[in-house]
Amino acid sequence: MNTNEVMEVLNFRHACKEFDATKKIDDKELNVVLEGGRLAASSMGIEPWKFIVVENHDLKEELSRVCFGGTKQISTCSHFVIYLSRTPKEIKSDSAYIDYILKDVKKLPEEVSSMMKGFMKSFEGTVLKDDKDMQSYANEQNYIALSSMMLSAAMLNIDSCVIGGMDKEALTKILVDRGLLDTDKFQVTVTCAFGYRKNEASPKLRQPMDEVVTWVK
Ligand SMILES: Cc1cc2nc3c(=O)[nH]c(=O)nc-3n(C[C@H](O)[C@H](O)[C@H](O)COP(=O)(O)O)c2cc1C
Repeated sequence: MNTNEVMEVLNFRHACKEFDATKKIDDKELNVVLEGGRLAASSMGIEPWKFIVVENHDLKEELSRVCFGGTKQISTCSHFVIYLSRTPKEIKSDSAYIDYILKDVKKLPEEVSSMMKGFMKSFEGTVLKDDKDMQSYANEQNYIALSSMMLSAAMLNIDSCVIGGMDKEALTKILVDRGLLDTDKFQVTVTCAFGYRKNEASPKLRQPMDEVVTWVK
């Protein structure tokens, strides 16, 4: 990709307020969007996330009613993604999940895995003082996955809209009742609708570069 093409992708992505409900994202392209999340960076590589992809019309309708920031977007989008973060106990250095990540996913030898756990342990109670810090830490990683998915989508001319405006408790209940969420392990962080725009996007309005960047040469 050259610089103009990259700029086109960056300008293409916008918070799409209404999707063309007749257009579906093709499975192969959707998979690449999801790869954007799966392959995203995460602190110490712990991937503290899970993505629920809702294609089902009835569930989208139900969810749109508890997401006040995205009623139209959710009911018209092709796919609605709910980003779940691992709970604090899941990402503690002595958890079964961390053991699985280090040994089964990263295939680290026992001594390296123990060293990593020791490193993680040193953060607990210091940098990450309590469960609230641990939960924010997991949530932060999810936003990186979200951003990576939105940019992957934009590269494929797929539109998106982050939806943070929601009744999290009500959304959680719907997912728990459907057996889609185990609150012992995960909690809802944010959501995003993907699809194809119905209307043209307005031009991007942003602060000038010199307001947001400080150079040190
Ligand atoms: C964390 C977060 C939550 C957001 N929640 C909503 C939302 O509930 N509804 C909505 O229409 N847009 C939502 N947005 C989109 C922003 O309003 C939008 O990104 C911002 O105004 C910049 O516009 P642009 O994305 O079109 O460039 C959210 C964005 C972020 C990053």
